[in-house]
Amino acid sequence: MSHQLLKGKKGIIFGALDERSIAWKTALRVVDEGAEIVLSNAPIALRMGKINELAAQCNNAPVIGADATSIADLENLYLKTMEHFGGKIDFVLHSIGMSPNVRKSIHYTETNYDNFLKTLDVSALSFHKVLQTALKLDLINEWGSVLGLSYIAAQRAFPSYNDMAEAKSLLESIARSFGYHYGIRKKVRVNTISQSPTPTTAGSGVSGFDEFFSFAQKMSPLGNAPAEDCANYCVLMFSDYTRMVTMQNLFHDGGFSFTGVSYDLAAELRKAQGL
Ligand SMILES: NC(=O)c1ccc[n+]([C@@H]2O[C@H](COP(=O)([O-])OP(=O)(O)OC[C@H]3O[C@@H](n4cnc5c(N)ncnc54)[C@H](O)[C@@H]3O)[C@@H](O)[C@H]2O)c1
Repeated sequence: MSHQLLKGKKGIIFGALDERSIAWKTALRVVDEGAEIVLSNAPIALRMGKINELAAQCNNAPVIGADATSIADLENLYLKTMEHFGGKIDFVLHSIGMSPNVRKSIHYTETNYDNFLKTLDVSALSFHKVLQTALKLDLINEWGSVLGLSYIAAQRAFPSYNDMAEAKSLLESIARSFGYHYGIRKKVRVNTISQSPTPTTAGSGVSGFDEFFSFAQKMSPLGNAPAEDCANYCVLMFSDYTRMVTMQNLFHDGGFSFTGVSYDLAAELRKAQGL
């Protein structure tokens, strides 16, 4: 169902790897709402992924590779994007995350610090680089909107989330700090959406994903928020209906973040205790 909420708007979507990716679903939704987009991902992901299929479904959106940790790649992406559109854009989705420690199943207490720095660079500092390069090249129109995707491990301990927890805390902090500066200089808003566990390549790479997916499902009054709903929330955040929202971390998690205990989990505990 389209309301053409983004008619006339242009944007960049980072991080669509396959159909399960939150960025993939967001790309389809923003185009459905009337936006024109450029798709980007790390060069290696472009080789391995199926982004050209998505591009075809998005009115033949250009696909421009960029390692989001490389300023040179980001500059190239932004200049080509402005050339393609003949001007500035209105929104950016940063849907990027990767932890070598998670990938190699290295326990948090045994962390490898080179890996840790890579986690922070790819999953959080890249957000700063995306913003800094955009500001420098004056990529985004006034009242534009930039979004990153976060997880509640930024605020609470989720033992198996590993060093991605620090990355998400930093990501949310960058949204606040950069959001201030981008707001006063260019009236651009910067926010993060803190999404429920979602079965994607990055999500299911975290050890114990199935357990915390079903735990969150039972804890959340509305259940886990599907990726399609996250895509809808992104549409709203890119639209003019949220012009005055900035520097926020917005929970999109079916109520998980503010629930102490649920009937479902209490019933499971009673059952496990034979009560
Ligand atoms: N899946 C979940 O449970 C969940 C929950 C909350 C937040 N998130 C966040 O949502 C975002 C999207 O993840 P997803 O779940 O859709 O998984 P995904 O694996 O589909 O997407 C992650 C993307 O990051 C890209 N990427 C990795 N390194 C990069 C680099 N150097 N430069 C550019 N791109 C790079 C990958 O190629 C991939 O497309 C991530 O920030 C993730 O942490 C996911």
